[in-house]
Amino acid sequence: MSLVYLNGEFKPIEEAAISVLDRGFLFGDGVYEVIPVYGGRLFRLEQHLWRLDNSLAGIRILPPHGSAEWRDLLSELVSRNGGGDLTVYVQVTRGVGPRDHAFPAAPSPTVFAMVNPLPERAGVQGVKAITARDIRWELCNIKAITLLPNALLRQQAVEAGATEAILHRNGSVTEGAASNVFVVSRGEVATPPQSAQLLPGITRDLVVELLQEAGVPCDERAVSLDELRRAGEIWITSSTREIVPVTELDGIPIAGGQAGPVWETAQTLYQDFKTRVRAEGAG
Ligand code: PDD
Repeated sequence: MSLVYLNGEFKPIEEAAISVLDRGFLFGDGVYEVIPVYGGRLFRLEQHLWRLDNSLAGIRILPPHGSAEWRDLLSELVSRNGGGDLTVYVQVTRGVGPRDHAFPAAPSPTVFAMVNPLPERAGVQGVKAITARDIRWELCNIKAITLLPNALLRQQAVEAGATEAILHRNGSVTEGAASNVFVVSRGEVATPPQSAQLLPGITRDLVVELLQEAGVPCDERAVSLDELRRAGEIWITSSTREIVPVTELDGIPIAGGQAGPVWETAQTLYQDFKTRVRAEGAG
């Protein structure tokens, strides 16, 4: 049975309840994080907490906890759920108030966290993706729970027999509906630069760091939709799925329909990094 954290208490998920007047429920007024856990250790926690603080500041919710408190709370949640390999979902909403778009005078945030199993990794066979126009708002750097456009875009992908929708705005790739995007063109790796048009992915940043450290050319620069279509390799990254090769785009095989050699390099670097974190706890 899964134990969750809700506003200061650990309890069975069946017993966790929030008010129907919670602004997360009524307005999607909140932010979230998804943090992978390997061997009971929260992976890149500092970076996730830093982004959570940025998201909270972006929607003007005061941080309900400092980083030491978050660490204690989330570590306890992980150990109460048996540790091992899993993901932690954390959500903070503006809390309960009368239904009015404007903020309540003295908001009291709702803090919720739960664990989920890690999804199976895609491996060398990779996944299919479609391209779609980015229909989201202009503050995609905030990890908001308001995910209706992302859900519609993912569903569009699923209905086309694919796993992910790769989004574009004004001819440039932004990111996936729930992932960041990398391309390999002429042996060089590129990923769109950080901006308000995409989430600063924790996995993305780590992949860039690991590739650059290993001397693999990797640039943060604009990637056009044309370049995406012509790319030798395409990968999508996220905390839950890690680095996933896209082996078919809009029905056309990429990299001969299987993971490419540069993905193999990135994958080895990422898995080696995880192994070190499991052993040493730093990460
Ligand atoms: N989503 N871009 C979007 C829109 C995302 O939703 C995600 C992850 C990412 C990748 O970020 P990171 O590497 O920090 O996980 C990029 C999570 C996993 C989710 O919504 O479940």
